[in-house]
Amino acid sequence: MMDFLEFFNLKENPFKLTPDVDFFYMSSVHQEALASLEYLLNSEEGFAVIIGEPGTGKTITIRKFLSQIPENVEYAYILFPNLSPEELFMAILEDFGIHLSDKVSKNKLFSTLRDFLIQKRKEGKKVLVIIDEAQNLPVETLEELRILSNLETDKEKLLQIILLGQPELEEKLNSSELRQLRQRISILTRLSNLDYREMVDYINYRLSKAGNSTIRITEKAYKAIYKYTQGNLRLINLLMERALMSAFVENKHQIDKENIESAAESLALRKETGNKKYPVLIGIFALVVFIFAGGFAYFYLNEEKEVSYKKENTEKINNSKTYTISKKNGIVIANILNVRENPSINSKIINKLRKGDKIEIVEEAGDWLKIQKGTLQGWVKKEFVKINNGAAKETNKSDNRKEL
Ligand SMILES: Nc1ncnc2c1ncn2[C@@H]1O[C@H](COP(=O)(O)OP(=O)(O)O)[C@@H](O)[C@H]1O
Ligand SMILES: [Mg+2]
Repeated sequence: MMDFLEFFNLKENPFKLTPDVDFFYMSSVHQEALASLEYLLNSEEGFAVIIGEPGTGKTITIRKFLSQIPENVEYAYILFPNLSPEELFMAILEDFGIHLSDKVSKNKLFSTLRDFLIQKRKEGKKVLVIIDEAQNLPVETLEELRILSNLETDKEKLLQIILLGQPELEEKLNSSELRQLRQRISILTRLSNLDYREMVDYINYRLSKAGNSTIRITEKAYKAIYKYTQGNLRLINLLMERALMSAFVENKHQIDKENIESAAESLALRKETGNKKYPVLIGIFALVVFIFAGGFAYFYLNEEKEVSYKKENTEKINNSKTYTISKKNGIVIANILNVRENPSINSKIINKLRKGDKIEIVEEAGDWLKIQKGTLQGWVKKEFVKINNGAAKETNKSDNRKEL
């Protein structure tokens, strides 16, 4: 059975959702954001902020930046920081490999962090604290970060802080309670969706990175992609992956407008009105998604380079028709991972998991996983879980932070 990668002569899935820096496309806004981070490193500024709607490339941009920072820079990377000041200090220290008991006071945490920073300065190191999805930081924790950023010796800052967040972060920073913090922030960049021209370029860039030379995309198809995604990178990836599958089903190397339409429909990007034009296509599409789910699970499991799966195991998954996602387990790779009631970033947080927690995966939906841990059931973002199939090696905890 030929899979779609083979059909299109691709080495890997060109539109995978994991923020892989090998696939980083230097659009004008991403270039600006990277330049602002480089400027921060060479300045005495305390903060840099990057604002962008979901899917505009905040996480991949910071990964790109971290993949090329100088040797003398050390960093902590914190995800989903719905954390009190104490929890945040603890998470930062943990990421730097310093473990304190849960009982220590905020003062103790603060002084431990200060001593660590002074030590690093003596070693000639620069220290960065990066907080992704920082719109989740409570106001009091943001205020505490300002105090932390005041730490300096000989007028040199001991640490610099990068905040990445959705537009709500900027609103928060503009609130009167955080006026003092806002005044400290002179580096603020906004990521936005791509314009039409860059979108076309982006799609071709990712296809060629994945080894393609055979896929043709008609102009009408590009127009439809733009209509449905408005140039949002995450939506482009989701839509293009489905469009490739749709063309594959039809056994053709050309992506037409119709392939985009059916892909958009299956992602519910198409408006419900008068959509009865493609019911057969959708039916076929659903069937194919079902048949190839095993094959897809195969790429996803292999996507993260740091995990090496034994070959016989991956083949078993690939060929097994009865393979179901519900048999999988996973390990939390984020420092703190919010468990939500529903698969949406706006849904209520019902619990938190910590790095290294083992979970059972009940269901997958887009980039969300329904998980179970003991009696707890809820939804978490897939990108913060390492999915195991039994043969997966658990990554070494201390290595995790460099890999994000
Ligand atoms: N500049 C870019 N180059 C390549 N891929 C990108 C770029 N920006 C975003 N993407 C892709 O779009 C998706 C969303 O990016 P991500 O960094 O997760 O966005 P955010 O953190 O803003 O929600 C990912 O699949 C990522 O690989
Ligand atoms: Mg992100």
